[in-house]
Formats: sequence, structure tokens, C-alpha cells
Amino acid sequence: MARSTLCAFMLLAGLSAAKYIVPGGRWHATDGSLVNAHAGCVTVDKDTGKFWLFGEYKVEGHTEGAGVSVYSSDDLATWENHGLALAPVEGHEYISPHHIIQRPKVVYSKVSNEYHMWWHADNSSYGLLLQGFARSPNISGPYTFVSATPPLGNWSQDFGIFTDRKDGRSYALYSNGDRREGRDVYLSAFNEDATALEKVVHRFDKYDLEGPTIIQTDKSYYALMSHKTGYRPNNVVAFRADSLAGPWSQPFTVAPLNTRTYNSQSGFSLTIQGKKKTTHLYLGDQWDQNSNWESRYIWLPMEIDDRKKTLDVVWNDVYDLDVKSGEWTAVEGKAYLAADAKTAGAAFKQEANFASKNTIVTGIYGNDSTVTFEGITGTGQPQWVSFYYQNTDDMGFGDQPGGTPDRIGGTWQLRRIASVVVNGKTDKVETLFQRDTHKGIILSTPLLLTLEKDKKNTITVGGLWNGFDYKGADLDRIVVYPPEKR
Ligand SMILES: *[C@@H]1O[C@H](CO)[C@@H](O)[C@H](O)[C@H]1NC(C)=O
Ligand SMILES: *[C@@H]1O[C@H](CO)[C@@H](O)[C@H](O)[C@H]1NC(C)=O
Ligand SMILES: *[C@@H]1O[C@H](CO)[C@@H](O)[C@H](O)[C@H]1NC(C)=O
Ligand SMILES: *[C@@H]1O[C@H](CO)[C@@H](O)[C@H](O)[C@H]1NC(C)=O
Repeated sequence: MARSTLCAFMLLAGLSAAKYIVPGGRWHATDGSLVNAHAGCVTVDKDTGKFWLFGEYKVEGHTEGAGVSVYSSDDLATWENHGLALAPVEGHEYISPHHIIQRPKVVYSKVSNEYHMWWHADNSSYGLLLQGFARSPNISGPYTFVSATPPLGNWSQDFGIFTDRKDGRSYALYSNGDRREGRDVYLSAFNEDATALEKVVHRFDKYDLEGPTIIQTDKSYYALMSHKTGYRPNNVVAFRADSLAGPWSQPFTVAPLNTRTYNSQSGFSLTIQGKKKTTHLYLGDQWDQNSNWESRYIWLPMEIDDRKKTLDVVWNDVYDLDVKSGEWTAVEGKAYLAADAKTAGAAFKQEANFASKNTIVTGIYGNDSTVTFEGITGTGQPQWVSFYYQNTDDMGFGDQPGGTPDRIGGTWQLRRIASVVVNGKTDKVETLFQRDTHKGIILSTPLLLTLEKDKKNTITVGGLWNGFDYKGADLDRIVVYPPEKR
């Protein structure tokens, strides 16, 4: 019995010891649960250097007001669950389970030698637009509620915090809401203790953006923000300045247009000053409006060139980050093209000049219109497999529910769902969410699969019900990555 318990434990630890960072994957904590900390921040423990991830805790059927969760990690890839740092309090004026507790951020205050948590505090109809404040002597919490106040008498919606490495001063970033008199993003300095705001440093006037975060390099500050399209992703933009007070540049896009920032929204960023390299990470959210509680994380390195004054978020399916040296490397995978795969039923290969070998597989539908990739080499261990797909629903579903954002009166379908079956084992169907891309835009999304240790594996992709249809997205290729090193 002891032995089987040990095996079960090792299996669990093996599955979750995610040394690689895999944007958009299902991230599991060391206890096996999904990492559930959305639109939050990563704060570094001043004593131990440990990373602490805080975020909105979202539960199926109760995605708002469920509190702020906290996880810790030494490598930004393996996460230990510490439960709630700020728990909702039934009947509370600002943090009841019926309130909005969004975009929590935690900073260390040298003055009081404790950690301060700030967030967008609101009621369920977004009528208060306040900033919440709680404190704890321990980074992991529990945090004690202090107040919910209007920042310098103004409104506050999407909330961010930035701490300047030059002098340790923290700044709040907040959009002042959607009404006509608002639609700005404020950058305001906290007092030294980070217990209240002192003065407005800059106002990003009438750009009508949200999800703000600031990245600091030796020479510049870059402020990233998204447009306001709710839980649908859009093209995140950045502004650059030599000083926080400005002048700030014109906004510019940070990822290839129409990838909608690789299907993500900005919200936080982290700088790793390693022994060999400084790496800036974009910590974005990949929201899922249909099941908000299982939204994913798009964490990617950024390439910044202060001479050219550019910042680019760089896509990687799977990468290996060494937080000690600061270096990151893209993990190499093996590609299998849809052009070489076998179609069944009504699935077929179609000319696509933007796809691999000018070919994409479309018409993937239900159980019998499928595509099968053959001759795949496996290792017998869990491996990340990225599915490169195109979801063209933005072309318009006409009057059907889930019509598209790129047409008058359009909404957003958000995703198709594919079924993924390894080696014909239909009793074990994996579900693959394929969020909207755009016409001619191929993005990828990963699944952790276990293939046999040989060269004869097959992966069959069909379509599952997504609330409207049984359609899977079009497929360009899959890429199979090596298992994590342990
Ligand atoms: C939220 O607060 C505003 C301002 O006080 C109020 O008008 C609105 O009714 C409140 N909404 C709810 C759901 O309590
Ligand atoms: C601080 O949090 C850690 C991790 O949850 C815990 O082990 C420790 O006992 C806490 N310390 C205090 C003083 O509460
Ligand atoms: C509040 O926001 C409005 C709109 O940006 C602005 O006109 C006003 O000056 C702000 N008030 C303060 C105290 O910052
Ligand atoms: C797929 O197969 C399942 C199980 O046999 C069946 O219930 C379902 O209706 C099928 N769906 C489609 C679209 O063929």
C-alpha cells in the first residue's frame, strides 16, 4: 500500500512538475488542482526570492467575488497552492461573495514591513469603482481588509501596480471606467508606505484602454494596455517614455495584428534580473467567457529594443525559463502536417496559402469527419502537443447565435471544441478549446498527452459540441514536444 501511494504521488508530482512554461495549457498546481489565479500579479518575497502568484479565484457558477487565491513557486512553472489570501466575508460592505474583487496586486511596504494588497473593489453592477486595500505581515496572507476608497476622488476600474526599481516607489494604474467622462488610464504615485495614493503622475487621456501594466528597462518605461472588448481578446498596445511623468509615445501594437495578442489580455508583467540576462515577461490572461473559471494564462517573454523603442511579445508554444540566470530557451518540437494527415468523412484538405504546404484541413465535424496524424513518435511520458489551428468564425455566422465581432451587431463565439483521441482509444477523449483566430491567422493551443514509446502513434481530431455546433477548427499541423526534464 505504501508503495502504491508513493507511485501515485510520484505520478502526480511528475504530471505537475511543469518545468516548462506552456502558454494556454491547463496548468496544474502540485496538489493536482487547476491553477486558479486570474488577472493577478506575481510578487517576489523579499526574504526568500520565492515567486507568489495572486489572482482572482473563480469557481464554476460563481466567478466573481470568490476571493483572491495565492500560489508559490521557485521556477515560475511549478506552483504550490496556498488557498485564499483574501477570503470573501458574507455580509461585508465591500468583500462579500456578491462583490467584485478584481485584478488584485500585492506589494511589499518597507515602511510597515508588511505586504499590501490592492484591487478593483466594486459592487456587482460596477457602480462603486473603488480601490480595495488589505494588509498582511506574511506574504501568503491571510490579508486583513482595511478600506475601499475612490483614488484621489476619482473612479477606478481595471487595476494595476508598478514598483519602480530605481527608488522602490509603487504606482497605481487604473482605468476610470467606461462612462464618457472617464475612459482614461491614470498613473498615480502611492505614498512611501503604499497605504494611499499621493498624486497623479500621468493620465493616458481618452484612449479608452484597460488591463494596464508597466515594464521598466534601464532606459525606458513601457505601459501595456488592452482595448475594451470584455472577455474577448484584442490587439494590446504599448506606450513608451523616459520618465513615468512622460511624455509618453503614441501607442503601438506588441504582437502580430489579428492574433489579438495571441488570444490574450494584458494585466501584469514581471522582470527577471538573472545572473546572465534580464528577461521581461508578459503575464496575460486568456479569458474564456463560456467557462470563465477555467480561463488560461498566456505568459510570454518580451523582446525590447530601447534604441529602436520597440517591444514585442514573442510567441512560444513551450519554453524553458531559468529564473537564476534569467535566460529562456524555446523548446524544440517535431511537427506533423495536416497536409500529410489522413482525413475521414466530410473533412477535407483545402488550399490555404498561409498554411503549411499551402494546405489546411477543414470540415472537421463530430465523430466521423476527422483528421488523423500518423507515425508520431512518443516517449511513454506526458508530452505537450500544440495544435496549430484556424478558427474562422469571425467571418460571420449570420443570424445564428454566436455571430462574430467583425460584423455589425456581432458578438463572439469564443471557441470551437475539438475531440482529441490518441491511438484510437475513443474511451479517452481529450477536449481541445480552439478560440477565435481570424481569417488567415493560425494560432496554437496545447494539450498534455501521453503517447506510446514508439513511432507509430496516431492522433485523431474531431469536433465536439460547443453550444452551437459540433465543428472543430481547421488544422494546419501539430507539434509534439519532448517531455519535461526531471
Ligand atoms: C452599486 O452601487 C451604485 C452606487 O452606489 C448603486 O447605484 C447600485 O445600485 C449598486 N448596485 C448594486 C447591485 O447594489
Ligand atoms: C506565513 O505563510 C506561510 C505559508 O503559508 C506559513 O508556512 C507560515 O506559517 C506563515 N507565517 C505566519 C507568521 O503566519
Ligand atoms: C477625475 O477624472 C476626470 C476624468 O479623467 C478628470 O477630469 C478629473 O480631473 C479627475 N479628478 C482627479 C481629482 O484626478
Ligand atoms: C458522437 O458519438 C457519441 C457517442 O456515440 C454520440 O452520442 C454523439 O451524438 C456523436 N456526435 C456526433 C456529432 O456525431
